[in-house]
Formats: sequence, structure tokens, C-alpha cells
Amino acid sequence: MKNHVLRPLYTVIGLVVIVLIVRVFYVPKDFGVHERGYMYGWYRESNIEDWKKFGVKYKFDGDYCSGCHPLNHENIMSSPHAIIPCEDCHGPALGHPDNPAKLAVERSRQHCLRCHARLPYPTSDRANIRGVNPDKHNPDVECVMCHNPHKPSLEGLK
Ligand code: HEC
Ligand code: HEC
Ligand code: HEC
Ligand code: HEC
Repeated sequence: MKNHVLRPLYTVIGLVVIVLIVRVFYVPKDFGVHERGYMYGWYRESNIEDWKKFGVKYKFDGDYCSGCHPLNHENIMSSPHAIIPCEDCHGPALGHPDNPAKLAVERSRQHCLRCHARLPYPTSDRANIRGVNPDKHNPDVECVMCHNPHKPSLEGLK
């Protein structure tokens, strides 16, 4: 074979050998295909334990909150906001009320506008939520000055 064929060939073989050597040192020993065969593809077995130790941050349970904040719970359950989990607005509650003692209370307009800014090009179900134009709908005033986040109602507002 001619030199111009051999040289690139040696380079490729050299690269493959380097990759194989580096693999020996860097790929964890328990990386591979495990008892379930290729069901989960290739993975590091100890990764399962790592994820088991990963604590969940959310309680996912409005009844948990109702024990200590009954009024907020009662209000929201009889309102159009009933479908929104408390933690969607107040953040993850794991450890509350010990640590953190309090949860976030977010009064900014942005907080409400992520669901209520009217979409210019409605394509998803998100567009079914009543929308306002942030620049025209009482700008500079916090929404919660007029609307109760736990019992939003349009009655009595006009
Ligand atoms: C075991 C009782 C208990 C449970 C359960 C509980 N809380 Fe609380 N929560 C408290 C206490 C006590 C405070 C602190 C009150 C204070 O210092 O003004 C507090 C404070 C808060 C605050 C801050 C109020 C403020 O004025 O700053 C929010 C928001 C809150 N809780 C939301 C929740 C949510 C959401 C849940 C459910 C995921 C929940 N809490 C579950 C007892 C509880
Ligand atoms: C749509 C967002 C939203 C949801 C859902 C929500 N909150 Fe709130 N929450 C707020 C806002 C905004 C304030 C601040 C209101 C204000 O200062 O006028 C607040 C204030 C609070 C406070 C402190 C003031 C108070 O009223 O006692 C507590 C406690 C609280 N929320 C608990 C809850 C609990 C429990 C739930 C679920 C049952 C819940 N919230 C669901 C947005 C929300
Ligand atoms: C996670 C999405 C979400 C967030 C955040 C949210 N809302 Fe809503 N809101 C809804 C849904 C869903 C409805 C019920 C459908 C509708 O009326 O458009 C609703 C309804 C309303 C209504 C109409 C009530 C009625 O009688 O029809 C008002 C007013 C309102 N929200 C105000 C607020 C304010 C103020 C905030 C911020 C504190 C807020 N919302 C945050 C989803 C949200
Ligand atoms: C100064 C008081 C005030 C403030 C601040 C305010 N609103 Fe309103 N909002 C009203 C009144 C009054 C109505 C009913 C009349 C109307 O549609 O304008 C209303 C209506 C709505 C509606 C129903 C619209 C519809 O199509 O029926 C939504 C949703 C809403 N507001 C969300 C918000 C959000 C989100 C904010 C903050 C970004 C906010 N509002 C700030 C007074 C206020």
C-alpha cells in the first residue's frame, strides 16, 4: 500500500488505541449493561443509589398545608385557582415549617403574568386562561392589591 494511505490509517488506529486506554482509566468500573439487559441501555449501577439519596423537595399535597393554613386552603378550593398546587406559587415545602420556617410569598406582577399575560399567538391550552395586557391592565400596581390570589373573583371588582 502507498504511504498516503498508510499514514492516515496509522493515525486512526492510534486514535482508537488512545480512546481505549483513556476508557480504562476514566469509565467507572460499574458502567455497563446490568441485570435488565438493554432495557435501560448503558449506565453506572451506583447511579441508582445516588438518585435514591436525592431528596424530593415538594410535598405535592394541599391537604398537608390545610392542617396549619386552613383558611387559605378553604378559600382556594372554592375558587378558580383550585387546580393550582400551593407549592406552584410558594415554592418547595420540604422541611417547612421548621426549615424553612416560612415559604416565599411572591407578590410581583410577573408571578401572576406567567399564567395571565394574554398570548398574542394562542396555540396551547394556556391560552384558555383569562389573559390581560400587562401594559394596559393597571400597570405599576401589584395584582394582589385588587385580586385575592387564594380566591380570585371578578365579582365586586367593577
Ligand atoms: C405544621 C404546620 C404547617 C404546615 C403543615 C404548613 N405550614 Fe406554612 N407556616 C407555618 C408556620 C408556623 C409559619 C410561620 C408563620 C409566621 O411566622 O408568620 C408558616 C408560614 C408560611 C408562609 C409564609 C407566610 C408569611 O406571611 O410570610 C407560607 C407562604 C406558607 N407557610 C405556606 C405553606 C404551604 C404552601 C404549605 C403546604 C405545602 C404549608 N405552609 C404547610 C406552619 C405550617
Ligand atoms: C396563584 C398563586 C398562589 C397559590 C396557588 C397559593 N398562594 Fe398563598 N399567596 C400567594 C400570594 C401572591 C400571597 C401574598 C398575598 C398578599 O400579600 O396579598 C400569598 C400569601 C400566602 C400566605 C401568607 C398570607 C396569608 O394569607 O396568610 C400563606 C400562609 C399562604 N399564601 C398559603 C397558601 C396555601 C396553604 C396555599 C394552598 C392551599 C396557597 N397559599 C396557594 C399566592 C398563591
Ligand atoms: C399557574 C397558573 C396561574 C397563576 C400563577 C395565577 N393564576 Fe389566576 N387563574 C389561573 C386559572 C387556570 C384560572 C381559571 C381559569 C380562568 O378563569 O381563566 C385563573 C383565574 C384567575 C382570575 C379570574 C377569576 C374568575 O372569577 O374568573 C383572576 C382575577 C386571577 N386568576 C388572578 C390571578 C392573580 C392576581 C395571580 C397572581 C397572584 C394569579 N391569578 C396567578 C391560573 C393562574
Ligand atoms: C387596580 C386594581 C387591579 C389591578 C392592580 C389588577 N387588576 Fe385585574 N382586574 C381588575 C378589575 C376591576 C377587573 C374586572 C374588569 C376588567 O376586566 O377590567 C379585572 C380583571 C382581571 C381579569 C379577568 C379578565 C377577563 O378577561 O375577564 C384577570 C385575569 C386579571 N384581572 C388579572 C390581573 C393580573 C394578572 C394583574 C397583575 C398583572 C391584575 N389583574 C391587576 C382590577 C385590577
